[in-house]
Amino acid sequence: MSDLASLEQRGLSELAACADEAALRAWITKFFGKQGEVALALRKVGEIAAAERRAYGQEANRIKEKLQAAHDEAQARAKASALEASLREQGIDVTLPGRPVARGRLHVATQVLRDIQAIFADLGFQVYQSREVEDDLTNFELLNMSPHHPARDMWDTFHTTTPGVLLRTHTSPGQIHVMRELCPEPIRVILPGMCYRYEAITTRSEIMFHQVEGLAIGEHVSMADLKGTIIAFAQRMFGAERKVRIRSSYFPFTEPSIEVDMDCIVCKGQGCSLCKRSGWLEIMGAGMVHPAVLKNGGYDPARFSGFAFGMGPQRITMLKYAIDDIRQFWANDLRFLAQF
Ligand code: PHE
Repeated sequence: MSDLASLEQRGLSELAACADEAALRAWITKFFGKQGEVALALRKVGEIAAAERRAYGQEANRIKEKLQAAHDEAQARAKASALEASLREQGIDVTLPGRPVARGRLHVATQVLRDIQAIFADLGFQVYQSREVEDDLTNFELLNMSPHHPARDMWDTFHTTTPGVLLRTHTSPGQIHVMRELCPEPIRVILPGMCYRYEAITTRSEIMFHQVEGLAIGEHVSMADLKGTIIAFAQRMFGAERKVRIRSSYFPFTEPSIEVDMDCIVCKGQGCSLCKRSGWLEIMGAGMVHPAVLKNGGYDPARFSGFAFGMGPQRITMLKYAIDDIRQFWANDLRFLAQF
């Protein structure tokens, strides 16, 4: 019994002397390990005289539980004070200013596309997405260009190894897709997207570029509607004082066809290097949808009419920001891109 009393005392005082968790681990091995003092004391029960055995066993168990509980408490205290110490030493000052994260931005081409879309949205035009991989039929034939039509020369084409499959050279084939999807409903859409042409890359032409096509179909759509739409667009995009000039032109899928100029935003029509001394900048091709194209879209040309236009937003962006090299758009040079 006196051995037990001394075990209890040593256990408690050595525990009190443990300064940290490592010391506590050593303590637990010493007292509670397989050969630890508590185990040894319990094993002794067998050697005790029968009369005292019961009392000895009870006392040994009481001490075992007391030491265990005292240890658990000491361990919890040690953990808490270790945490507190680490918070004190490696404290985070949440009031310090953070490290700035570089912010990305929209590509200037995307910004301008969105500006154009917003203007046409105000005019009641919805955005229609059309495919970039097209077939010859939709890119040319249904737009009134049979296989050997000389006008095909205006669109140098990337053909694929699959006969008849090509990269669209303009957004106009989208006209066919919209018409076939919406016929006989009236249509008022723009079709923005990438186009591809097998051309020499220069400061003014790229092999890939955006176009924004416009298409309006209805029972009384006229050239005056086309003109009004173009003027509204030019004035919203480039300033309320813009003037628009219309020249006659030719596209197989419009009749009549026009080319649209606006007065130069730099010299206001006086003549400068941007407008090559002419006072005018070309902004788009357009015209009244050809009856053959209306028919290919499912619309009866005797009842329906429509206008279409197509513009190159990169050209428009170059005008707006005085960019002198179209290759900048896809060169991925941050010095260029970060300016917008
Ligand atoms: N698709 C023509 C081009 O790429 C532009 C255009 C579109 C002209 C619609 C008239 C009507 O040059």
